[in-house]
Amino acid sequence: MLIKTNRDGFAQPLASEITDRLVYAGRRDLIKLLASGAAGAALTAWASREALAQGTAASPRPGKLAALPSVKSAVPGAVTLDKLTDYKDASSYNNFYEFGTDKADPAKTAHTLKTSPWTVEIEGLVKKPARYALEDLLKLSAQQERIYRLRCVEGWSMVIPWVGYSLSELIKKVEPLGSAKYVEFVSLADPKTMPGVGSRVLDWPYVEGLRLDEAMHPLTLLSFGMYGELLPHQNGAPVRLVVPWKYGFKSGKSLVKIRFTDQPPATAWNKAAANEYGFYSNVNPDVDHPRWSQATERRIGEDGLFAKKRKTLIFNGYEAQVGQLYAGMDLKKFF
Ligand code: MTE
Repeated sequence: MLIKTNRDGFAQPLASEITDRLVYAGRRDLIKLLASGAAGAALTAWASREALAQGTAASPRPGKLAALPSVKSAVPGAVTLDKLTDYKDASSYNNFYEFGTDKADPAKTAHTLKTSPWTVEIEGLVKKPARYALEDLLKLSAQQERIYRLRCVEGWSMVIPWVGYSLSELIKKVEPLGSAKYVEFVSLADPKTMPGVGSRVLDWPYVEGLRLDEAMHPLTLLSFGMYGELLPHQNGAPVRLVVPWKYGFKSGKSLVKIRFTDQPPATAWNKAAANEYGFYSNVNPDVDHPRWSQATERRIGEDGLFAKKRKTLIFNGYEAQVGQLYAGMDLKKFF
């Protein structure tokens, strides 16, 4: 995001190779979760993911520590044939303003985030308000691996194998009332562990929102991991949202509260600049940001001198899955 000034179970060997990735993922969190039995198993998706990424058949990496059990998603549209973004790029080029405004900041500073114990409160217009411990949330439904494109409003995109399950699984459990029309997602705002929360860039906590039907769409993912491992702190550990047809800022990280409302939630970026960041924020090459075009994007990892920009696709390429949600709406007005 540019700011105005500058803008469920298994056993597996502990890694004989403790790679950089584990450092990124927050090794202590992984070990705690593994010890608690909430996570941990041989992750069968690794081989197919590698094959997808490299265009070759690959066998599971020996000794790889797999944190999250998952199966390939059966949700239509969840798998793309695009080359995966390197883990290193996906975990070092981040937007997480609670840890600084520079893309490199979160990977450097988010180690301070304490992800255990962690609870997510469900409140508002629901029959069954609840307070879920992360361990229970992890087991609420089967974890799936879903490869989604994520297009940032700033003009760059990545292709990431997320691990999680459809948010709709959780929503069904808490039974929204007939009056619930929207869902608000609130991120943690802890000044002690999040250095960026001291800044006035945004009105903390980071809040995002979806219409209830958008939140119920099977593509909307409640995510706990990526690349077969728990989320690194900088990518929104221990639980975040991924809404692949909307600009990246709609995918709130490190969620602590999910509230059902009858009014559109006041979202952080909309409060900061309503004319620039609308409530819907569907990826749309035909609706420019007031300060730049949204017609093309730069795929992270394709940064060479001769790398061509890619054409941005309506709904980030997920039109067949989500287009109906917006039938008859003026997408220029409801941007
Ligand atoms: N969630 C919180 N709490 N704070 C943030 O600053 N940034 C958003 C979104 N979720 C943000 C957030 C933006 S602008 C983007 S593009 C995506 O996270 C980036 O996710 P990634 O770092 O996993 O690629």
